[in-house]
Amino acid sequence: MGDAPKLAGPDLSDGVTLAELSEGKPLVGHVGDQGVMLVRRGDEIFAVGATCTHYSGPLAEGLVVGDTVRCPWHHACFDLRTGEAVKAPALTPIACWTVVRDGERVRVGDQQPPAPAPGPQPGHPQRIVIVGAGAAGHAAAEQLRLRGYRGQLVLIGADEAGPVDRPNLSKDYLAGTAPEEWIPLRPREWFAENGIELVLGTPVTRLDVQKRNVLLANGRSYDFDRLLLATGAEPIKLTVPGADRPEVHTLRTLGDSRALIARAHKGRRAVVVGSSFIGLEVAAALRAREVSVQVVAPEAVPLGKVMGPELGAYIRQLHEEHGVVFHLGTRPQSIDEGSSGALLVRLEDGTALEADFVVVGIGVRPAIELAAQAGLAVDNGVLVDDKLQTSVPGVYAAGDLARFVDRQGQRLRVEHWAVAERMGQTAARNMIGATVAGRDGRWTDVPFFWSQHYDVAINYVGSGVGWERVELDGKPADKDCAARFYRGATLLAVATIFRDRESLEAEVALEQR
Ligand SMILES: Cc1cc2nc3c(=O)[nH]c(=O)nc-3n(C[C@H](O)[C@H](O)[C@H](O)COP(=O)(O)OP(=O)(O)OC[C@H]3O[C@@H](n4cnc5c(N)ncnc54)[C@H](O)[C@@H]3O)c2cc1C
Ligand code: FES
Repeated sequence: MGDAPKLAGPDLSDGVTLAELSEGKPLVGHVGDQGVMLVRRGDEIFAVGATCTHYSGPLAEGLVVGDTVRCPWHHACFDLRTGEAVKAPALTPIACWTVVRDGERVRVGDQQPPAPAPGPQPGHPQRIVIVGAGAAGHAAAEQLRLRGYRGQLVLIGADEAGPVDRPNLSKDYLAGTAPEEWIPLRPREWFAENGIELVLGTPVTRLDVQKRNVLLANGRSYDFDRLLLATGAEPIKLTVPGADRPEVHTLRTLGDSRALIARAHKGRRAVVVGSSFIGLEVAAALRAREVSVQVVAPEAVPLGKVMGPELGAYIRQLHEEHGVVFHLGTRPQSIDEGSSGALLVRLEDGTALEADFVVVGIGVRPAIELAAQAGLAVDNGVLVDDKLQTSVPGVYAAGDLARFVDRQGQRLRVEHWAVAERMGQTAARNMIGATVAGRDGRWTDVPFFWSQHYDVAINYVGSGVGWERVELDGKPADKDCAARFYRGATLLAVATIFRDRESLEAEVALEQR
């Protein structure tokens, strides 16, 4: 979430000339105290809010694709006709205004009321249960109501916290620069207002696909006609001696992030195990709190496997410039109590690091126990078809646990926020047979994720699994570059630093293959 942007450009209620509007190139201005942009598409002109409803990204710097605009920061997509957030991570629409044309002059008129939700359809199932109140589960619940589903809707989460903005837990929230009120995806009352029964703090312990029923740890059970499994993933635990000490943390939940903040208040020295995205984001957030950070990881280059050697080396350098010390090519061997009462993290290479607490970021594994126990097809994830349906009709899966077939025909499971939300939205529509313009219910989205390290955001589109060659355009140290990952002659993925439009253009190019 960012601050409300300052008003820019002309007063659009006074109008501009038609000649000032170039095809597909937004013109930003304002109406009263609201930022508005005009977008010309052929003979049509749209007037919509200029600020993304996710974290306030500047939509005019994004990309117009057909009758939609994509946000430059995290690739949310909005319908220019209705304002609807048609692709996460934005979930709230942007406002739309009427456009008044008077000869060669174009001005913005009244703000339009929000588009009414469609009514319920005869074929809708009566009861839908969503297991997992994270990115995918929450987005699915919102989507069901948005598409006119009026039946019983239950969203069950093991975590007390409810749906939260998980990416923030390793970034601004952990760094102390995002207030607590930014963290819930919606206020609690929103769920009641939208007829969503939110059941929190109680995991589902059993799924019976024959009886179409889920059983919770507290003994309650819910019958369903359609089910969405969205239980996400769990951090992999370190297994060396001493790794079960209370000072050794992982990070997945709001509670985990709060526990790290409490440690950062008391302890001034942290060891981060793993140079994963989460490990390094935690390192950056702890440095913002002036905690000294040492990172231990087996790789020679942090993130090198995903980002390639040059970008990986730059990310290392960036962290070193902020005071992070790396111990690469080695692993922790044990965690003991040192003589001063601090922890002593002993490494395989013989080094011993003193720390007040340890954060382990060595990856996640999909939470597939429920699915496996119920007899669903699983293989490093819950296997889904192109409609995100599992091997059992009426039971869908979305998010970190779902292993789908991508555009190249390979089975893929990704752990990205916007992808999880979009999968949840797609599964929701398929559960009720809803269709939207331009989408046929098949899951074909190109993966996208972002990662933030200090003031540097990395945007990544595509899936670079199995890349053989990387082409770097520009210099990472100039904070202006794009890395393209190829297998043979095939472009698989593109990572960018401060080239947001290029990232959006790459996404569109990958979608067209
Ligand atoms: C700290 C952190 C930072 C991240 N930052 C980024 C980022 O910058 N960009 C990015 O693209 N991705 C990021 N990710 C990844 C992203 O958050 C995940 O890909 C996304 O949350 C996956 O959504 P999901 O719905 O599959 O799982 P989750 O969001 O994890 O939700 C799963 C939910 O299911 C619940 N659950 C599990 N088992 C049960 C059960 N048996 N019964 C009931 N409920 C259950 C869990 O409590 C959880 O709330 C980050 C992840 C973390 C942890
Ligand atoms: S700010 Fe627009 S998608 Fe995040």
